[in-house]
Amino acid sequence: MVDVAINTLAHMKNENPGHTPVMMQEVLESLRLPRGGCLVDCTLGLGGHAEAAAAVLGEQGRIIGIDRDSDSLEVARQRLAKQPLRCDFVHEDFRKLDVILEQFNVSCADGMLFDLGISSFQLDNPERGFSLMAEGPLDMRMDQEAAFSAYDLINSLSEKELSSILKVYGEERLHNRIARFLVEERGRHPIESTSELKEIVLKALPHRYKRQKIHPATRTFQAFRIAVNRELESLEIALDKCVGFLRPGARIAVISFHSLEDRIVKHKFRMLSQKGLFSIVTKKPSRPSEEEVLDNPRARSARLRVGERK
Ligand SMILES: C[S@@+](CC[C@H](N)C(=O)[O-])C[C@H]1O[C@@H](n2cnc3c(N)ncnc32)[C@H](O)[C@@H]1O
Repeated sequence: MVDVAINTLAHMKNENPGHTPVMMQEVLESLRLPRGGCLVDCTLGLGGHAEAAAAVLGEQGRIIGIDRDSDSLEVARQRLAKQPLRCDFVHEDFRKLDVILEQFNVSCADGMLFDLGISSFQLDNPERGFSLMAEGPLDMRMDQEAAFSAYDLINSLSEKELSSILKVYGEERLHNRIARFLVEERGRHPIESTSELKEIVLKALPHRYKRQKIHPATRTFQAFRIAVNRELESLEIALDKCVGFLRPGARIAVISFHSLEDRIVKHKFRMLSQKGLFSIVTKKPSRPSEEEVLDNPRARSARLRVGERK
């Protein structure tokens, strides 16, 4: 059945709707979804993984697709409408997993997927403010209805709070310096755009810091995105909840894109296994193949961890 899904993947590559799903084959093989089973896709995005999973689940199967981003949900809804199985679309933060699954009467899912972070569909839209490569407003909200954006944080938090966000969520060594430059700049005028934020970081960093493989402002952008969306907190909460909604033998697959997320997944899996609730399937995280990274460079930092409910 995974072969059927891989054929679906080949077809999807020809009509990529704005995001290429990462480590598709590894995800499908490790989830081992049964025909007629129920998958909870906690990060539905554009429904790429879900579409391929639908081919495995068959028409008696079911998918509960959760995403905070209403635009992405709409794309996924149209895409999955072509599938014969039942799909429910939930515009919510996955930290509310328990409430969502109780509402849909799902107590024993056959698999769960977390493909963390943002999709290319979100990153490549300048209006969303996620990308340092494009001019746009300082938004960075995954949920367009969320109460505060990067603009609110950057223009209203204290220097100490900004510095702490940069240190903890960006692992930025020069967090104090960047925070000071931000506060000085916003004393003159509000900081409104991605390009202003990028320029301030460039001004704050000494010359030797600019000779890195990644853009010097990458960590700053990561830090504010994580803070705006409270990403790490959501992940911890959801991983605490998920095990109670999996049938024995069902698997959970988590794809993370940076070490802060991966560390949380690793620790939560270890804790669940120490409690005897879980066995860890991937002792070390799986990585995308060289071929996949060549094909889709955004997959390069993906790490997949898989666990199984006992
Ligand atoms: C990498 S994309 C998923 C792509 C998807 N697997 C696909 O194949 O199209 C991650 C998605 O997760 C969503 N997301 C991230 N954190 C979330 C959270 N706490 N609750 C709900 N959705 C979240 C983002 O809005 C984004 O659409």
